[in-house]
Amino acid sequence: MRRLLVLGAGGHGKVVADAASASRKWAVIEFLDDRHPEHGRLEDWKVIARPVDIARVVVADDEVIVGIGDNARRLAIIEELLSRGIKLTVVAHPAAVISPRATLAPGCVVFAGAVINAGTSIGRGCIVNTGAIVDHDCRLDDAVHVAPGSALGGNVRVGRRSWVGIGASVRHGASIGSDTMIGAGAAVVADIGDNVVAVGVPARISTRGDSDRAAE
Ligand SMILES: CC(C)(COP(=O)(O)OP(=O)(O)OC[C@H]1O[C@@H](n2cnc3c(N)ncnc32)[C@H](O)[C@@H]1OP(=O)(O)O)[C@@H](O)C(=O)NCCC(=O)NCCS
Repeated sequence: MRRLLVLGAGGHGKVVADAASASRKWAVIEFLDDRHPEHGRLEDWKVIARPVDIARVVVADDEVIVGIGDNARRLAIIEELLSRGIKLTVVAHPAAVISPRATLAPGCVVFAGAVINAGTSIGRGCIVNTGAIVDHDCRLDDAVHVAPGSALGGNVRVGRRSWVGIGASVRHGASIGSDTMIGAGAAVVADIGDNVVAVGVPARISTRGDSDRAAE
């Protein structure tokens, strides 16, 4: 009986488990969460242990996914799991359309209505969220989050741990650096560097805070 262990029983983890359940790839889906044992269930799934106890609960056939929305935390946990030889999987909702000519590294999740086109390569632990579009020949580095309803044109590059906010659009060929946040609804029409927040149409670097970057 194949089991999927989802690390993180919050809002994002719930959607990961829901997509995994819809895919029918796993007979059992269980969570690990820091709030165990107080947090014993999420919807109809059990929370069985804390993530630090994974070595105690994982068995040979298990597959693991990290269901934590925060890009930096997710990547750190993924790197730790891989260094310990724990096998990470990819969770894709059956209503996502993923080209057989696209590649997804371990630890990625792709939600309902997302489209990933031919020639695209997606690094470890990326989130392609509900209804997001990643067109042809894009390169997403590790732990990128393409939020719901956002769209990347062809040949877009996105650096490690960056976040393309809900409903944002990125013009074909544009590059976004690492640790950058593209605000909700922005239109990226030129390259954006590392470690900035960019908002608006066209997107401009904002001097505002970045409270959303630590969200779930
Ligand atoms: C850009 C962003 C990170 C800024 O967050 P923040 O620092 O908390 O900003 P605040 O909400 O305090 O807003 C500060 C100012 O920026 C403006 N602003 C915030 N987000 C904006 C956006 N996406 N586009 C344009 N202006 C924006 C606000 O209107 C406010 O302007 P004001 O001071 O003139 O009233 C955030 O608003 C955002 O867009 N996050 C994306 C979230 C997302 O996509 N979530 C998906 C979850 S799956």
